[in-house]
Amino acid sequence: MTAKATVVAPANIAFIKYWGTQDWDQTLPFNPSISMTLRECVTRTTVELIERSEGDSVLLRTAEGSLEPAAEAFRQRLEPHLDRLRRWAGEEVAFRVATENSFPMGAGMASSASGFAALTLAVVAALGKQTSGEEASVLARLSGSGSASRSVLGGYVRWPAGEEPGEEHAVQLASADHWDLRDVVAVLQEQAKEVSSREGHERAPSSPYFEPRQKLLPDRLETVTQAILARDFSSLAQTVEEEAIDLHLIAMSSHPPIFYWRPGTLEVLAAIRLLRQDGVEVCATMDAGANVHMICTPDSEAAVAEVVGAITEVGYLIYDGVGQGPRTIEEHLV
Ligand code: DP6
Repeated sequence: MTAKATVVAPANIAFIKYWGTQDWDQTLPFNPSISMTLRECVTRTTVELIERSEGDSVLLRTAEGSLEPAAEAFRQRLEPHLDRLRRWAGEEVAFRVATENSFPMGAGMASSASGFAALTLAVVAALGKQTSGEEASVLARLSGSGSASRSVLGGYVRWPAGEEPGEEHAVQLASADHWDLRDVVAVLQEQAKEVSSREGHERAPSSPYFEPRQKLLPDRLETVTQAILARDFSSLAQTVEEEAIDLHLIAMSSHPPIFYWRPGTLEVLAAIRLLRQDGVEVCATMDAGANVHMICTPDSEAAVAEVVGAITEVGYLIYDGVGQGPRTIEEHLV
């Protein structure tokens, strides 16, 4: 048994955030979310089928550059998903997995979204199974990383809350070619965040601001959808920033509270506000971490990078932008 497949899957940055899970068995959120699939922040994963008796193995690219057996906590997060995919396929096989990221893991930059999208698609491909994007989205979501359901698609993607039939999977709102938006990421913190997204989702409903945000979301979802379709940056920018602030407002007022920001986060946010006053088309958003994603138009990218790159707390910048989604490649990791 020598079937092997390698998939490169991207991270995504949410414009409307998934924050709060109402069903952990199915990984169903309290609210729909919308994201932009990225191009440069990717996970590459190779999956090889081996005899069941050999057991699963997971290699992870280290910061030093070698592929090493993954730490127990990492393996434990993957194993239930590998079991789920085995059951889905009805195959008694084991998987030899090797994986690497092009960006820092676990620092609020959606490495689980790209990671579980890549793992899911690579397992499916190694097994020789065909899936629609819809089925792949559901399979990726069931990993427990809800945002992975959006990373199986390119461009601008909506993940419904799953309450209505036909709403189980993410859908593409517009392709990457529709609107060339950039994402300059100000990396302030490379190490893994102290409180996981899962913990954040669990605590979110304890915030007094959780319910008020739910009421604002139908309008925000509509605004962001229309802004994407009409390529209307100013309308997109306002809602994207409101959403980012509200996610952190809810995190900081949850019981117990979660503080993801660093002092540098506020400095970057202030710089972005000044740039916008000067007419630069840019807005800021953060996932569950300190790093700031600066969404901008191509003409604004250089000004954003120059100003924010000069802030002392900013370690470095990642230049990213809207991407086409996952792809299968022949360059295997092992
Ligand atoms: C703040 O549960 O999908 O990024 O545990 O990293 O997989 P991981 O995250 P997930 O929650 C994502 C939360 C968010 C907002 C979003 O991407 O919608």
